[in-house]
Amino acid sequence: MTPISQTIVDKHLKAHGVADIGKATIRQIVKIVSDIEQETGIPFIKMEMGVPGLPPPQVGIDAEIAALNNGVASLYPAIEGIAPLKNEIARFAKLFMNITVQPECCVPTVGSMQGGFASFLTACRRDENRSKLLFIDPGFPVQKTQMKILGLEYESFDVYKYRGEKLAEKLESYCKQNTISAFLYSNPNNPSWICFSEEELQIIADVARKYDIIVIEDLAYFGMDFRVDYSAPGKPPYQPTIANYYDNYILLVSASKIFSYAGQRIAALIISSDLFTRNFPDLAPYFSFTEFGKALIYGALYGLSSGTSHSSQHALYALLQAANNGTYNFVNDVKTYGKRAKIMKEMFIDAGFSVVYDTDIDRPIADGFYFTISYKNLLGSQLAQELLLYGISAITLDSTGSERLEGLRACTSQVRDAQLPILKERLSLFSKLHK
Ligand SMILES: Cc1ncc(COP(=O)(O)O)c(C=O)c1O
Repeated sequence: MTPISQTIVDKHLKAHGVADIGKATIRQIVKIVSDIEQETGIPFIKMEMGVPGLPPPQVGIDAEIAALNNGVASLYPAIEGIAPLKNEIARFAKLFMNITVQPECCVPTVGSMQGGFASFLTACRRDENRSKLLFIDPGFPVQKTQMKILGLEYESFDVYKYRGEKLAEKLESYCKQNTISAFLYSNPNNPSWICFSEEELQIIADVARKYDIIVIEDLAYFGMDFRVDYSAPGKPPYQPTIANYYDNYILLVSASKIFSYAGQRIAALIISSDLFTRNFPDLAPYFSFTEFGKALIYGALYGLSSGTSHSSQHALYALLQAANNGTYNFVNDVKTYGKRAKIMKEMFIDAGFSVVYDTDIDRPIADGFYFTISYKNLLGSQLAQELLLYGISAITLDSTGSERLEGLRACTSQVRDAQLPILKERLSLFSKLHK
């Protein structure tokens, strides 16, 4: 017998109008799981949603409270961000990526969700003949939703089969029609946790340069390739970035995961100086500015939210300052996710599961925030539905632009250490009943 009965799972899927869990959104799965938990009293091993599982650092909270006590709540923040924060973001870029960026080109946003939205909005309107974005997938599903909301078209491909040198030709095949304005990828990658090599970043840069494409690099999981220690400010190794190879880029650095600050919706957007100051006449009808950086800040961000919450800018300033000064080691804090991933992955493998995205070309994938799993010949949607019976929840990979329809994304962040023996027990039962 499984911990949760088929009747209960079916009842709740039906109640939420979900015929195929592979088509359900993450938020729908969260609700279904919480309803099943309520009815059965059995807590789930929750692997579906990528929320930070750690407390936020006190330095951010204290700075935010102090800012509120100083009266910032009544004052509109400057749209381009408060000056000390802009300086600290530029310092962070130098100390943790070894790149030189201008404070003027460093802008706080309401999470990287907004940073991405504003970047798509501006990048895809810079040339009326080139309005498409190319997603180097798998990726974060809501970014495609953002493109749809904006009425913008996109192309995408699963990078799994095109690692290393093969990436160049694949990218070129999309660029030849001259309709692509920007590339987007996350690195480390949500959901597969692949990390591009320096050679691959060089390839992306070379193709982008040839076709004059803006590269949007989403660094939501900055420093979290734990195979390498990126934690020492101002000392190599540095977080790999496209900025080392190319001058037309936008970097999205979210505070949500690296600083466990998701609730305050704050991130930094870093635009290269070359791109910031470039003029695109086609931007004028939308933004009243033709200069890229001004159009993005005083056009897109102004129209979206008139800037980013004043107090959370002070929090991010304090968090970055502590990281930059070496008084707060943010990478060490989030290493918990890597340690947990290693244990969880082993449990899944012992129970007969396979890791779907298993290598970075020639080395095993890192242990981090996410990993991907499949089970024998089950489709991802069948596996996700089946695991609900064992009190385990995850999302399918097909919603992420992956071609690996057999796979699921497992997120490590919400699983508590005390739950690990329970996960092991449930997985061995799963494997026994699937012999
Ligand atoms: C790849 C990726 N980009 C962006 C985001 C959104 O970040 P934020 O919370 O800063 O909006 C996430 C959050 O899960 C993510 O995984």
